Amino acid sequence: MKINIDNGFLVYDMIGTGIPILFVHGYPLSRKIWEPQMDGLSAQATMIAFDLRGHGGSFPFDGPYSMDLLADDCKSVLDNSHVHSPIVVCGLSMGGYVTMALYRKYPDLFKGIILTSTRPGPDSPEAKTNRDASIMKASENGAGFIADNMLPKMFSPVTLSSNPDLVAMVHGVMMDTSVPGIIGALQGMRDRPDSTPLLSKINCPVLIIHGFDDQLIPLKEAESAHNQIPNSRLVKILAAGHLPNLEQPEIYNQAIKDFLLTLD
Ligand code: MLT
Repeated sequence: MKINIDNGFLVYDMIGTGIPILFVHGYPLSRKIWEPQMDGLSAQATMIAFDLRGHGGSFPFDGPYSMDLLADDCKSVLDNSHVHSPIVVCGLSMGGYVTMALYRKYPDLFKGIILTSTRPGPDSPEAKTNRDASIMKASENGAGFIADNMLPKMFSPVTLSSNPDLVAMVHGVMMDTSVPGIIGALQGMRDRPDSTPLLSKINCPVLIIHGFDDQLIPLKEAESAHNQIPNSRLVKILAAGHLPNLEQPEIYNQAIKDFLLTLD
């Protein structure tokens, strides 16, 4: 499905019956990463997975993509899909930054939150410098530079050695991200606000899922968020890196099923 926004468009899929869940992917990925969830949770949830602007099949808007702008895109998709709030929002990595921005803007939308492979804090000065270097590289060399550089950091060693098809699929997804999308997301992540002060104010249930082998965002970030969010549970997944929903889909889906049972 497609919705028109700002002289461009966003694409999304919707499937299943049950509690509404909006899935928000990370950078530089697309809704394709949620296929194991769309396949495995359709009896438990009405799931919406969309491509963030500049990613996958959505329009390659020029950036910057602030987390607030991407949160408003989430709101547009929800309004267009006519699901009734409250809903669960599941964000992975940059999708988690967007989920926190969405909660800050529209807390009444939420029945629950699932934060995967993400962190509440802002970029360090060193991380901001690295974002600027990546922006230069992406504008000079295109998506291939970013995809080749990030690919080995996305997975656990187990996935890298045992699941070449998954690794190739994710490389393809990254290659499909537009250059304006890569640059817009890098600018937005570089300038994102600190969401740490929000954590103690979240008053819906939160499920945090993190891979033991995440090289991009270490597990201690999830443990710290868990300690600060009052009604939260933390599921740590073995043999999973930055993409536990793809690397260990059955364990990941079971964690979501268990979480949904706790929501009325
Ligand atoms: C992501 O997976 O969305 C990004 O790696 C997050 C980030 O770079 O901060």
